[in-house]
Amino acid sequence: MSNVPDIKVTPPGPSAREIIAKDEHYVATTTKSLPVVARSAKGLVVEDVDGNLLLDFSSGISVLNTGHCHPRVVEAVRKQSGELMHFAGTDFYYDLQASLAQRLSEITPGPPEKKVFFGNSGAESIEAAIKIAKWSTQRMRVIAFIGAFHGRTTGALSLTASKNVQKQRFFPTMDGVTHIPFANCYRCPYHLEYPSCDLWCAKTLDETYLSTFVPPDEVAALFGEPVQGEGGYIVPPKEFYPTIRKTLDKYGILLVDDEVQAGLGRTGRMWGIEHWGIYPDILTISKSLGSGIPISATVFRKELDFGVQGAHSNTFGGNLVGCAASLATLDVLSEEKLVERSEKMGAYFRKRLEELQEKHELIGDVRGLGLMLAIELVRDRRTKDFATAERDRVIAEAFRRGLILLGCGRSGIRLIPSLTVTEEQIDTALAILDESLSTVAK
Ligand SMILES: Cc1ncc(COP(=O)(O)O)c(C=O)c1O
Repeated sequence: MSNVPDIKVTPPGPSAREIIAKDEHYVATTTKSLPVVARSAKGLVVEDVDGNLLLDFSSGISVLNTGHCHPRVVEAVRKQSGELMHFAGTDFYYDLQASLAQRLSEITPGPPEKKVFFGNSGAESIEAAIKIAKWSTQRMRVIAFIGAFHGRTTGALSLTASKNVQKQRFFPTMDGVTHIPFANCYRCPYHLEYPSCDLWCAKTLDETYLSTFVPPDEVAALFGEPVQGEGGYIVPPKEFYPTIRKTLDKYGILLVDDEVQAGLGRTGRMWGIEHWGIYPDILTISKSLGSGIPISATVFRKELDFGVQGAHSNTFGGNLVGCAASLATLDVLSEEKLVERSEKMGAYFRKRLEELQEKHELIGDVRGLGLMLAIELVRDRRTKDFATAERDRVIAEAFRRGLILLGCGRSGIRLIPSLTVTEEQIDTALAILDESLSTVAK
């Protein structure tokens, strides 16, 4: 729609401000990043409570790969809600849960002999992965990357390492976690250059950590995001995960691939890890799976299963409405060829962002895969000082003009529209971003 955004009153308008005041009074402090108060949405267009039409390039934190309220998903949810909403899928049986598990086993990378544990959130899928890894290997240590985000429940939080505020006042979390630097060619933690670095970031796992102070026969698993999300949309070089995988195989350590943000077509492949040509032992999915209905899945090699009733369970996992929404989401992704679309539109978007980078000194880096894209703002392209305050102001300026964006890392801006995005919508977002960058640069 060429009339979107349509700003009738600069957001937040009077109705929005009233709701924000009520929210601030009653709702616990979380991570609110923009004063947008939505009333309804369709595709990428959000109507706020003051009648403004906004363009959503945040996808509800990467949840709406099929767009807001896709008719197929809405219909599946409506139908299921009228038939059976809850039947405790951990304790009893129904077909939707078994069918979704079968479907996920078939479409995730690696041999199809897999099992699935259902939960309600990304963090819960990580908690399950931790327990499956510990249970099956009977090893109690885990490894994760600096910059990682795996969630905020205590087990998942012990793996998360992207911002101090997420960890402060919560120490100690789960014991036995070692963090190692992630691959980041824009800001190499070892101050090396790719490819002359010879992939030290991957080799150091074996040559430093596992050889000196992290006994490999005590390590259950290594957790990694294919593209580090919250940490700044950081894409490792092509040799990174294959090298890591080789080391893990040498010691019988499991690889947990956290696809909570990158999965389901976001990177231009169904699963982010496919870009590295390897497959994990355990894979976690949430966010986009239910197109907005909370659901998560931890998919793992069949032989890693608990095999004992009661070792792990929950009440709502595999909820019927969530399963119906997920099956409809998978249908939409495949029938509308949204994964291919993510790759194609992502290439177009990236090229246009690189043009914007030529115009704006503030843009230090353009990166990502498919429609999992970000720009990183810097005060000086040579020193790469993080332009955090400028980033926040660009997001605020864009919002005043009707574009919803989210930050990532210390000075990044995520550009993650639904995979249904059109070229026209990308052009509109770029024009707003261009203006917002110019305003802030002044
Ligand atoms: C890669 C990744 N893992 C796990 C999580 C945690 O998901 P949730 O917020 O649903 O608990 C997130 C959330 O942003 C994520 O990006």
